[in-house]
Amino acid sequence: MNGRANLVTQAEEWRRDSGFVTVPTTLRTRRLVLRPFEPNDVEDVLAYANDPEWSRFLSVPRPYSIEDAREFVDRSVSIDWQEEPAFAIEYDGAVVGGIGFHIDSPNSRGMLAYSIARAYWNQGLMTEAAAAVVDWGFDQLGLAKIYSFADVENVGSWRVMEKVGMTREGTLRSHGLLRGVRQDFHSYGILRSEWAGDFDPPPQRVTAG
Ligand SMILES: CC(C)(COP(=O)(O)OP(=O)(O)OC[C@H]1O[C@@H](n2cnc3c(N)ncnc32)[C@H](O)[C@@H]1OP(=O)(O)O)[C@@H](O)C(=O)NCCC(=O)NCCS
Repeated sequence: MNGRANLVTQAEEWRRDSGFVTVPTTLRTRRLVLRPFEPNDVEDVLAYANDPEWSRFLSVPRPYSIEDAREFVDRSVSIDWQEEPAFAIEYDGAVVGGIGFHIDSPNSRGMLAYSIARAYWNQGLMTEAAAAVVDWGFDQLGLAKIYSFADVENVGSWRVMEKVGMTREGTLRSHGLLRGVRQDFHSYGILRSEWAGDFDPPPQRVTAG
C-alpha cells in the first residue's frame, strides 16, 4: 500500500471509529431547509441557473439548459456524501440554491461551495445557510478546517465567508481562468479551534431534522 492510500485508510478509520459517518442529512435554519437534492428539483434549478448574473463567477454553461440542470441534479442526487455532501437550499417550498463541501478526508478539511438565486441576494440567506453547514461540518463531520475561495470581485461571496467567521488567508493571483479571463481569488478559512472558541457565531443556529 502506498503512503497516500495508507493515509486515506487511516482517515476513513478515524471517521468511522469516531462516529463521523456522513449520510444524507436535512438541516433546518430559521428561514431555510437544507436537504439532499431530489430528482424533481430540475425545474427549480433551471429557474435560477439560467441567469447570467447568477453564473457570473461560476464555471457553468451559458446559456444554462434543462439538460444542464438535469445533469447537475442527477449528479447531486447520486453523489457520495462521504466526499461531497450537497444540500439543496429550500425557501418557501422551492429550491433556490445549493451549498456543500468537497471533503479532503486525509487532511480533515472541507471546501465550502454555494450559490443562491439572484432574487434572494442580500437578505442574509446564504450567511444563514453557510453558518448551519459550517456548524454541521465541524460538529458532525469532525473537520479540522473549512475553507473556500471567491473571485476578488465577488464581494457578496467573501462577505458571506467573513460573516461566518472565516479569515482571509491570502489572495491567489491569476489562479483561475473563466470564459477567457484570468481570475484572482481571495482565500478564506476557519479552523475548528476558532469555531469552537473564539468566534461569536451568527444568531441562526442549526437544528438537525
Ligand atoms: C455570493 C452569494 C452566495 C451571496 O449570497 P447572499 O444570500 O446574497 O449573501 P448574504 O445576503 O448572506 O450576504 C451578502 C453580503 O454581501 C454584501 N454585498 C453583496 N454585494 C456587494 C457588493 N457589490 N459590495 C459590497 N457588499 C456587497 C451584502 O451587503 C451582504 O453583506 P452585509 O450583510 O454585511 O450587508 C450570492 O450572491 C450568489 O449565489 N451568487 C452567485 C453564485 C456565486 O457567486 N457563488 C459563490 C461562488 S465563490
